[in-house]
Amino acid sequence: MKLDDKALKEKYDHFMLKEILEQPAVLRDTIDDRIRPGVGGKSIDLGEMNLDAEWLAQVHNIYIAACGTSYHAGLVGKYAIEGLTGIHVEVDLASEFRYRNPLLGDKTLVVVISQSGETADTLEAMRMAKEKGARILAVVNVEDSTIPQEAHHVLYTRAGVEVAVASTKAYVTQLAAMYLIAGYFAQQLNTIPRGEIDAIASALKEIPEKTEEAMGLSWSMRGLAPSLASKSSCFYTGRCLDYPVAMEGSLKLKEITYIHATPYAAGELKHGTLALIEEGVPVVAVATQEHVYDRMYGNLQELIDRGAYTIGVTCEGNNALGEIVDRAVHVPKTLLSPIVSVIPLQFLAYYTAVEKGTNIDKPRNLTKSVRHE
Ligand code: G6P
Repeated sequence: MKLDDKALKEKYDHFMLKEILEQPAVLRDTIDDRIRPGVGGKSIDLGEMNLDAEWLAQVHNIYIAACGTSYHAGLVGKYAIEGLTGIHVEVDLASEFRYRNPLLGDKTLVVVISQSGETADTLEAMRMAKEKGARILAVVNVEDSTIPQEAHHVLYTRAGVEVAVASTKAYVTQLAAMYLIAGYFAQQLNTIPRGEIDAIASALKEIPEKTEEAMGLSWSMRGLAPSLASKSSCFYTGRCLDYPVAMEGSLKLKEITYIHATPYAAGELKHGTLALIEEGVPVVAVATQEHVYDRMYGNLQELIDRGAYTIGVTCEGNNALGEIVDRAVHVPKTLLSPIVSVIPLQFLAYYTAVEKGTNIDKPRNLTKSVRHE
């Protein structure tokens, strides 16, 4: 351990905690100078990607390929890009993408997301797509790593060095990058009214503050950790944009606590998983999407009727969820809900791992960057 690593460890018990708490700052670094005041409202400036509007206007389809946490950022990216541009987006695990036969050509954009810029499957997926004529946009945190060197276009997240194997701050900057890209494409292609671009740009500008507020949830999540630490298995669920958040939350818990944690789209629970629900089984439900609140409440009721212990994450101002679940926590309202709703889930995983005394920054069997297959 280097001297400054040692000093940091003394201030924070683990790098993971330090990195969770750094999220507002790294979001600010990633977003701030990419939002500009403009005529009719704020605009998004990603001129650094050198992706010209003329070529973009011909794009037929977009693939996003990534692994692990970066894949979860890609799932959110699909919602954002499809929603704002109307271009069809498919998201693939890079390890699957590279061995199937995706429909690639010179009107395909492939977005690869990688914190390290070195993950073997993502790198090979990119090379394969490039060979078949697709254009590559790489969203990467580590400058001059292999992936951005080979990609046609690059957008760097600015999370700084992430030491803990379980990604937190790099992940939220990837989410910010997805919204920046979606908003920028919409702006270049004129697919949404000017006012909506301003709304996305303003939401991005405000997101560091919102995540600062969400840091206040640390204590309530810590309070839930002792009981979760005694369980051997747990489920995460959500609908629409909340589903990737549930996936990411469950991955954090698995990675650092070794508790079996599986995410399910809430509507799928009844197609099998309900059979596993019995008295005291913990279920973490993310419910920030207003248009599916009622559907989520119905799903939760089915879980509660079978004895599940439910923890709900919803938006400030929604008191209805608290009346259904055992414990509800509220995150600030924003258009970019995945960026704030993941924070209580990171804390939950972290404090549960503290209870269990696992090696939080270097979980067994895992490495920060998987460079070989
Ligand atoms: C490893 C890490 C994960 C990460 C994944 C993809 O499995 O442990 O935290 O999400 O690789 O890494 P990348 O650097 O490509 O984002």
